[in-house]
Amino acid sequence: MAGQPDWYIGLMSGTSMDGIDAVLVGFGPQGIETSWHTSHSYPDNLQAQLEELASNQGTPSLLGEADARLGDAFAHAALAVTEKAGLKPEHVTAIGSHGQTVQHRTEPPSPFSLQIADPNRIAEGTGITTVGDFRRRDIAAGGQGAPLAPAFHTWLFSAPGRMRCLINLGGIANITLIPGDDGPPRGHDTGPANRLMDLWCRRHQGHSFDHNGEWAASGTVCEPLLRTFLSDTYFSRQPPKSTGREHFNENWLETHLSTLPDTPKPEDVQRTLLELTAVTVTRDINAMGSEEVFLAGGGAFNPLLAERIASLLPEASVDSTTTLGLDPQSVEGAAFAWLARQRLNNAPGNLPSVTGASGPRVLGGVWPGRAGNLRC
Ligand SMILES: Nc1ncnc2c1ncn2[C@@H]1O[C@H](COP(=O)(O)OP(=O)(O)OP(=O)(O)O)[C@@H](O)[C@H]1O
Ligand SMILES: [Mg+2]
Repeated sequence: MAGQPDWYIGLMSGTSMDGIDAVLVGFGPQGIETSWHTSHSYPDNLQAQLEELASNQGTPSLLGEADARLGDAFAHAALAVTEKAGLKPEHVTAIGSHGQTVQHRTEPPSPFSLQIADPNRIAEGTGITTVGDFRRRDIAAGGQGAPLAPAFHTWLFSAPGRMRCLINLGGIANITLIPGDDGPPRGHDTGPANRLMDLWCRRHQGHSFDHNGEWAASGTVCEPLLRTFLSDTYFSRQPPKSTGREHFNENWLETHLSTLPDTPKPEDVQRTLLELTAVTVTRDINAMGSEEVFLAGGGAFNPLLAERIASLLPEASVDSTTTLGLDPQSVEGAAFAWLARQRLNNAPGNLPSVTGASGPRVLGGVWPGRAGNLRC
């Protein structure tokens, strides 16, 4: 398709386990020319299986079954976004599949990160060359294997002379500081974003998330609870650092609640969790200074969270990435489309200044598509 964009798909199932995002990106000489997004719920009981695996309770047989089922669901999502864009699979150069993280353990002596959603099934189900397993090479090179999106954020959003920051508010929050001039980009996982709020909301309200932060808005911040949350040494640790639901989980929340003499009202806990996210993402940005801040991920749709972040960043403008031409729900998926493109171009996908790896590395393995779609 001479003169047409180079089409790539990014597939993502994040720490919130709120579903699968498929993003079809058209790369052109000026960057991203156009993009399409679809979201998909997990079939049948797959979400429960993923939750079980992520809480370290699954058997090898469950791991194998969920890997295969999620691979099929990813293939379905890739075909759906291709159809939505009016394209055919043979028009798509490759898929970058993040998969679903079931364990992310970065402590020595044996750090590892495990994602599932069998790329063989994605390649077979779509016919499209599939790139997957992005994190493990960075870990093998001494890095955290996360966050990986900062290289893409820097590629797409950097602006000469302006220090920008991207905040991704997924289950976990991560920030990317993009220098306008000299110096390497920086970034790390700052801690929980939606994951703990979702969990608390499900338990007390029966909803999978607190729509627009309305329930949190009915509560007030419980200062002693916020203080005990913030005493977690993860928040004061120097980067590189990354985290996940292995650390910030139900048990973590219960442990902190149990240190208080009285249990706060549920809505106050929700409000305090929201404040925790706002405080932890903004602290490091204030320390490094950024004039322009952009929000991505599902948390960008929570007006109370966006308002708290803006008020804790008085020196910066705060907008969603829509201002930059990419909707907040598409950013993480687009990052994996870009990482697949990097892989096929034999170009590095990691930023050693972010992950701590000993150098730039070409990330990911390649599962070839069918004849006629065999770039690898
Ligand atoms: N209107 C809204 N109001 C409040 N929260 C919202 C709204 N829309 C989405 N969210 C939150 O966003 C979450 C999903 O965000 P997202 O898909 O970016 O996270 P993720 O899949 O965990 O990704 P990541 O891997 O980046 O952590 C939902 O679980 C919910 O908590
Ligand atoms: Mg999601």
